[in-house]
Amino acid sequence: MSMKYDLRDIEGIGPATLEKLKSAGITTVEALAVTPPRLLMELADITEDKALKLTQRARELLGISFTTAREVLEKRNKIGYITSGCKALDSLLGKGFETQAITELIGEYGSGKTQICHQLCVTVQLPLEKGGLGAKALFIDTEGTFRPERIAQIAESFDLDPTEVLNNIIYARAYNSDHQMLLADEAARLVPENNIKLLVVDSVITHFRSEYPGREVLAVRQQKLNQHIHQLLRIADIYDVAVVVTNQIQSTPDVFFGNPNKPAGGNVLAHGSTYRIWLRKAKESRRIARIIDSPMHPEGEALFVITPAGIKDAE
Ligand code: GTP
Ligand code: MG
Repeated sequence: MSMKYDLRDIEGIGPATLEKLKSAGITTVEALAVTPPRLLMELADITEDKALKLTQRARELLGISFTTAREVLEKRNKIGYITSGCKALDSLLGKGFETQAITELIGEYGSGKTQICHQLCVTVQLPLEKGGLGAKALFIDTEGTFRPERIAQIAESFDLDPTEVLNNIIYARAYNSDHQMLLADEAARLVPENNIKLLVVDSVITHFRSEYPGREVLAVRQQKLNQHIHQLLRIADIYDVAVVVTNQIQSTPDVFFGNPNKPAGGNVLAHGSTYRIWLRKAKESRRIARIIDSPMHPEGEALFVITPAGIKDAE
């Protein structure tokens, strides 16, 4: 996406406001235009009146309140695809993991969610002709399960220099849900400055579930989670980034018919994610992936294996 305008082009943004916006993670006119004024008010610590004026001016400058169908098509034509390194999984998704979208990996422990995230951090760096985007990755780790040694091992299997690959992955550990949301803000700043095309949040739900247990706080939890998902959607959309998040399975013992297991996060995640992939364990290192909740994708499954060289097509 071309960055034709600068925040300083907007009337009312002087050095002090510029600093406030920056510290709120808003560094481009595009980001300002799509931040809800009420959120902007809180994030940048400015008055409601000023927040309204600034977002309005950013929208006018970009002319983005409405657009034509042709422009929508042009933007969609820019969608990039990241190979998973596994043909079956790529074709399950169409052509691979998409930019301008959130893809959610759902599954029980050991189903391969974190392994796929690690692998994508490598494959996004491959050149276009090899299924990558020649770009960097940003990894937000909420469970402490990020393993650079594993990345290095996968990099070697793709004939890439492990040190270089590790240098191109920006990492942060999120210690609680508020921290996770701050990091997402920070990510919005880092993404355009660093040619980042993949943003991983592994897992998106853990902190929210553990900090807001029980039905009494469910509404608050869902509200915060919704805010977080929208942070991620904005990054995906404005900066043409593939966002990949992992999610857990929740069992609902009060279900009498059908599958008692369902993805955690309820409607917020179901509506926020563009694609949802459910992973199941099969024999040994085999795994089965299935797309759920997508009217655009035919029902189908992809089989893959987790090997020392990363995830691969099953023989
Ligand atoms: P949770 O985060 O616990 O919910 O699980 P997950 O879905 O993220 O599982 P993860 O991707 O961490 O692990 C999936 C499987 O990959 C496990 O059964 C591990 O045995 C396997 N695995 C993990 N690391 C390696 C590795 O370095 N080499 C190989 N060959 N397999 C690995
Ligand atoms: Mg994991």
